[in-house]
Amino acid sequence: MQIFLDAIRAALARATGLNEADVKLEAPRDSAMGDVAFPCFQAAKLAKKAPPVFAAELATSISSTLPSIRATAAGPYLNFTILRGPLAQAVIGEISARGASYGGSNEGAGKTIVIDFSSPNIAKPMHVGHLRSTILGAALGRIFSALGYRVVGINHIGDWGSQFGGLVVALRRWKSEVDLETDPVRGLLELYQRSKKAAESDPTFAAEARAAWQELESGRDGEVRATWRWATEASLRGFSKTYARLGIRHDLVRGESFYEPFIGSAIDACEKGQITEVSKGALVVQLGAIDKALEETPCLLRQTDGTTLYATRDLAALFHRYEEFHFERALYVVGAEQKLHFRQLKAVLKRLGLPWESRVEHVDFGLLLGRDKKKLASRKGDVLVLDDLLDEVVEESTRIIAEKNALLANPRAVAEQIGIGAIVFNDLKRERIKDVLFDREEILSFEGETGPYLQYTHARLASIERKVLAAGEGGTAPDWSKLEDAGPVLTRLGRFPEVVRSAAEHAEPSLVANALLALGRDLNAWYVQARVLGQEPAVTAARLALVRASKTVIGNGLRLLGCVAPDEM
Ligand code: ARG
Repeated sequence: MQIFLDAIRAALARATGLNEADVKLEAPRDSAMGDVAFPCFQAAKLAKKAPPVFAAELATSISSTLPSIRATAAGPYLNFTILRGPLAQAVIGEISARGASYGGSNEGAGKTIVIDFSSPNIAKPMHVGHLRSTILGAALGRIFSALGYRVVGINHIGDWGSQFGGLVVALRRWKSEVDLETDPVRGLLELYQRSKKAAESDPTFAAEARAAWQELESGRDGEVRATWRWATEASLRGFSKTYARLGIRHDLVRGESFYEPFIGSAIDACEKGQITEVSKGALVVQLGAIDKALEETPCLLRQTDGTTLYATRDLAALFHRYEEFHFERALYVVGAEQKLHFRQLKAVLKRLGLPWESRVEHVDFGLLLGRDKKKLASRKGDVLVLDDLLDEVVEESTRIIAEKNALLANPRAVAEQIGIGAIVFNDLKRERIKDVLFDREEILSFEGETGPYLQYTHARLASIERKVLAAGEGGTAPDWSKLEDAGPVLTRLGRFPEVVRSAAEHAEPSLVANALLALGRDLNAWYVQARVLGQEPAVTAARLALVRASKTVIGNGLRLLGCVAPDEM
């Protein structure tokens, strides 16, 4: 598709005297009018003509230079339609040549994208906010990788803070009273909650917890550190099960504690940059001059008692990451409730005059809400544990699958793919900053705007392909001109690489999700009236080629998002 767009751009530049970069093409208001539109206002002004007159003249003069493209004027616009035969041949040819890599490119070669995502806290289960971060961050990682970037996914585990002194003491006292084997995260949560209560009501416990935290901070490698390390590892073991189900991995697991040794030099850099002040005994960076909204909220680097904070560790982590990776972009996939925190971090970089400040982005997102638009809770009404949510949805999808296709060879595996696909797609289909509604039935619907709908479309395309091949058809040379009725599908297929690019640029996987939904709609409209099997051989071949190309694109798109694309369901 791109070659046609390039040809149009070049021809327009020649005919109008504009630079190619200034030839702005847009989507026509109505797709029936053409594949791309050129608004003539600017060029008409240069030629000192009325835009509609200019457009009409241009239509005649440019047509002869673009053999596979029809140009028609509509008022001040010039619309271009790529002839379906040549479009089909080019688009389908490219998709079948590129296969699983169609949609990707090499544009990111040599550049690194650091993505901080998921980043749960130890001794607590991952909650739904972490789920969104995990799904969004992993999708972004795959999208950037497809574009040739080197992606470094970092799990910035919350493993540091005075509360872990209490946890260590709780483990010391009550370890044998809880089950830390079957489900370490749940067992640790129990101890963690108990330690919080004890710290409030029992002064000896509180003192012991403080001492443990001090020892942890001192860096001494004794019993306290060993216990804390054990808890961290047990938590990670629990999280890794969830990650495996979602098909997700991090390149680096570096908790907040990892950056402890680098905090000193981060604070030094701020002091050398002369941006720090002592305010009521604490070390702060004032940010009002950089960002009026931060007037009242300076960045606190060190408290009166000498302890550092979440922000201090994040600052140290940023310096460390820039040193190590010289990233093109550093994306923090963290909920919108931490907006202030990231705004402060960026403002500190600005105050230091660091030119790479603009490469640091808070990729924020909205909440995951239940049907009643309230925060999602478990069926029993208490804190929602992520794994339980996955289990519930998979259970439901098992039931649906059994109903729809009792002959399926591996129903359990497919049910897991569909259940996870439903959750993942639901999370990615709307602009990330919007809240996501989570309705167990709706996200699993095969008819709605869902992951299962696209997975089902993929399986259906695979089944058409199997049937045609089993009938011994589809082997002739395709007659591309017979895909005249598939224009909307062809242009969507052709635009897919541009969609992927744009999803990366805006850190917005929903662009891919929505392009797939639109493709699914156009495809369904096409194949209700275009049978593949049993046509004139050149027609069957052309339609089969379109079916295969669509299957490739839907499959590639689903995989970029983190959904499996089954051949059967
Ligand atoms: N652990 C934090 C939380 O659960 C998220 C950390 C995000 N990453 C970061 N570098 N601050 O809220």
